[in-house]
Amino acid sequence: MRILLGVSGGIAAYKVPSVLRALREDGHAVRVIPTRAALDFVGRATWEALSGEPVTTSVFDGTESVDHVRLGREAELVVVAPATADLLARAAAGIADDLLTATLLTVTCPVVLAPAMHTEMWLHPATQRNVATLRERGVHVIDPAVGRLTGADSGPGRMPEPHQIVDVALAAAGASGATDRDGGDLQGLQIAISAGGTREPLDPVRFLGNRSSGRQGVALAATAAARGAQVRLVAANVDSSVLGVVPDGVQITSVETTAELQEAMLEAAASADVVVMAAAVADFRPAQTRTEKTKKHADGSVESLELVQNPDILAGLVSGRREGQIIVGFAAETGDADGSVLDHGRAKARRKGADLLAVNAVGADVGFGDVPNEVHLLDASGSDLGAGGGTKDDVAHVVWDAVVRLLSSRSGSETPTVSTSAAGRLSG
Ligand code: C5P
Repeated sequence: MRILLGVSGGIAAYKVPSVLRALREDGHAVRVIPTRAALDFVGRATWEALSGEPVTTSVFDGTESVDHVRLGREAELVVVAPATADLLARAAAGIADDLLTATLLTVTCPVVLAPAMHTEMWLHPATQRNVATLRERGVHVIDPAVGRLTGADSGPGRMPEPHQIVDVALAAAGASGATDRDGGDLQGLQIAISAGGTREPLDPVRFLGNRSSGRQGVALAATAAARGAQVRLVAANVDSSVLGVVPDGVQITSVETTAELQEAMLEAAASADVVVMAAAVADFRPAQTRTEKTKKHADGSVESLELVQNPDILAGLVSGRREGQIIVGFAAETGDADGSVLDHGRAKARRKGADLLAVNAVGADVGFGDVPNEVHLLDASGSDLGAGGGTKDDVAHVVWDAVVRLLSSRSGSETPTVSTSAAGRLSG
């Protein structure tokens, strides 16, 4: 595929050579179009060396071939990373004062913008209006991640990680890194995935919940779409900045409670070939939900809370599964005096009966949020099917690789060789 990689002048530009590399390694021809300010962060020589193509910033270079029109016509995908507030404003207004913005006016292919800026600039009504305008026009603007920014500040405005930008961009173009890398090995499959954590209301303002961010489920959805699957994502209380990296084409259903998650997953599972329960489901809910806010007692006495057990959605999906359907569960475990993380995982794999159980260790600093993750894959008898770790995308690929192997072994076809990239992620 012929890709234009626009780079505007923000500090996150230093990470964009990784985007370029990944696209090139996937076999795409990439022409980089930086703005003049972008060259203050990463120089022309870097872009030229990594892309193998000339790099210019101005419409007055290459005038004989009318570059902005030719590049725009030839492009099959445009990715701009980072997209600064200024770039978003110029693109929304249709200003064409350099090669990148002029080219944006000539392209008809999918356009994906990965904004990065300080939180105040991202949240400013002018920027939000520009983003809305671009989205109305069909431009895919990825919500920035929440996290550390250039200085000591932190908040929404961080550029999504390069591998996420690549996944979203290729999925938007109807191709995928994995499609090219692994032959679109989930092509034709319908996959239902739950993500996030359920909340059980106590009263109109309080709930019982958990610390799941939904990032692992979202990574599963994005990578499955990138590998060619048709994905339905049931998101329980997942922040919009986390959902921002979900590619177009993934159907998202947002839910709050376990009952809502169960209903949505049962409906999605009815037509799914593969079902993944990555959501952290509240095991208990209050026996009653008050319609009024619970008040403190004047005498200082404390009320006790009566809980009732929630249904085990995964177990229900396993017992009602369609013929040939593959069901994957996740188990977040901590080791204790009764056994290690894996001991508990094995017992759970046998109890739940899912085809695959991805067991990971959790604690205050591991497993939740924007942190690397590690999983051990177990089958329904508790036997080890391997382990893998890295980013949440890496973990997602480990799960999909295992699903692909399971599908091939069931259909009697030769087990596909694990792709080089997957082999790097899979051990044990
Ligand atoms: O028992 P535990 O909560 O550790 O099991 C984790 C797995 O079971 C996850 O896949 C989770 O989505 C699923 N689960 C469920 N319904 C529950 C509790 C967990 O589907 N009530």
